[in-house]
Amino acid sequence: MERTRWYKDAVFYQIWPRSFKDGNGDGIGDLWGVLEKLDYIASLGVTGIWFSPLYPSPNADYGYDIADYRSINSEYGDLEVFKQVLDGAHERGLKVIMDLVVNHTSVEHPWFKESRASKDSPYHDYYIWRKGTVKDGIPAPPNNWDSLFEGRAWEYEPALDEWYLHIFAKGQPDLNMDNPAVRAEVEGIMHFWLDMGVDGFREDVITFISKVEGLPNDYLMVPGARGMRFYDNGPRLHECLSQFRRVLDGYDCMAVGEAPMITPHKALPFIEEGPDQTLDMMFNFEHMGADCLFTDFVPMPFSLRRYKDALSRWQRELDGRAWNALYIENHDHPRIASRYGSERYREKSAMALAVSYLFLKGTPFVYQGQEIGMVNTHFSSIDEVPDVSARNQYRNRIASGDSPEKAMALINRAARDHARTPVQWSAEPHAGFCPADVDPWFAENPNYPEINVARDEGDPDSVLNFYRKAIALRRELPVVRDGSYREFKRASDVHYFYVREDEDEKLLVMCSFADKQTLFRMPLGFELEKGELLLANYADAPGARPDGFYAFRPYECRVYRF
Ligand code: GLC
Repeated sequence: MERTRWYKDAVFYQIWPRSFKDGNGDGIGDLWGVLEKLDYIASLGVTGIWFSPLYPSPNADYGYDIADYRSINSEYGDLEVFKQVLDGAHERGLKVIMDLVVNHTSVEHPWFKESRASKDSPYHDYYIWRKGTVKDGIPAPPNNWDSLFEGRAWEYEPALDEWYLHIFAKGQPDLNMDNPAVRAEVEGIMHFWLDMGVDGFREDVITFISKVEGLPNDYLMVPGARGMRFYDNGPRLHECLSQFRRVLDGYDCMAVGEAPMITPHKALPFIEEGPDQTLDMMFNFEHMGADCLFTDFVPMPFSLRRYKDALSRWQRELDGRAWNALYIENHDHPRIASRYGSERYREKSAMALAVSYLFLKGTPFVYQGQEIGMVNTHFSSIDEVPDVSARNQYRNRIASGDSPEKAMALINRAARDHARTPVQWSAEPHAGFCPADVDPWFAENPNYPEINVARDEGDPDSVLNFYRKAIALRRELPVVRDGSYREFKRASDVHYFYVREDEDEKLLVMCSFADKQTLFRMPLGFELEKGELLLANYADAPGARPDGFYAFRPYECRVYRF
């Protein structure tokens, strides 16, 4: 089968299934809920769905610890209902991609159970086991690495007198990708889903699957500061990905990788179009205000300059060589309107943020709830916070002397859980996520009576309807797919202006990130009065003032065609 690059015309919607929609009335999101909402998803104008893991999992990391790669978590449904979702999606012109999490499994995966049962098991070498050292008469780990989610990166197995590596939580042992049998298993898993008809994969922390040879001590590690630089980009990464690529090549599918700490320079060897390409695009973190989202990660205060610089760098450096994956929200970050926008100007800022990335070159992903401008919630105590990484961060802070109040203030800024509260469907009890008389698995944001899909449906000027317009516009205009990219006013702390251009037309995209009125002059050659206004988040679009300046209102955004 010929692989086409259909993903260049795609817009994806990401579903984190546990919090999307409860369809069977147990307070947990599931595939029956997805079935109910397929028409809604299609109504956004998106062309595909990315499912965060749906597989059986003990939920040490809510699905990113997989106990069986070829089945569906019974909380979410089974393979039968998954097939109904797949068919229903395809009937509506929506592609479906699955999360492929193969850096690690769950400790509950049968491979790991066998692996830890005996050194003689053929599965022992499926994971990364090492002899430890002894410090003051006590067994000590093989090297000084910390995990990203839970203490040291090694767990001791007394019966074997060996340690297993876990870059993430203790319940997420790393697979040994140097073992050909493990790679063959991954190929089998890929065939299983592709043969069923799925359209590709999002490959979780894919640059971590090959570790630096010899697993050396990390010389950057100093007590109290976390630095781990040796667990990714190992020497066999390209070889592994090429092997997986050969599977993909048998289907008309796509693969997007996820890689914390990656730069365009490091990504190009994987995504540059040509015979050596192994992935179609790569999710990076540079515009998200951090190079690592995990342990002790404190989101930096928003800087428009940093956001623009990162987006522009990827636009520029991939131009003509590779394709971008575009996103501003997913299940790993607090809500973007709270972080980069303004809760006071929630709707306007959610719209400006949408425009800031939806007209870039690449394939956009929209995360559940982003399309209605959902915002962060508030946690009063760590007991209300389910995520292993936030809980770990809290423990570290307390251990280093922070008061519970101070530690909670950090969690309220940083937690991934903000993105994981139930989608707010309506003003009904529990935001219409689950039945009124059932407790949802995770408390809904109390602001749901004001912020919800039903309300937005009834308002032509809502965030939801703005997303629909922006997505439709993006898909109508070839210049968004293929045109060149040029940024204006790079030094501005309040404006993000860029132009997309091809032989036929120019598109001018303008966003203000200020919470007050701001003035600017148009670059030479642009008179807004001569452009056709295609999209805006205010009802009118005043032209130049007598002094030649234009004034933008808080979080104003406009898209013009010339
Ligand atoms: C990826 C996922 C994140 C998960 C981690 C470990 O970064 O997006 O949610 O915790 O990998 O699998």
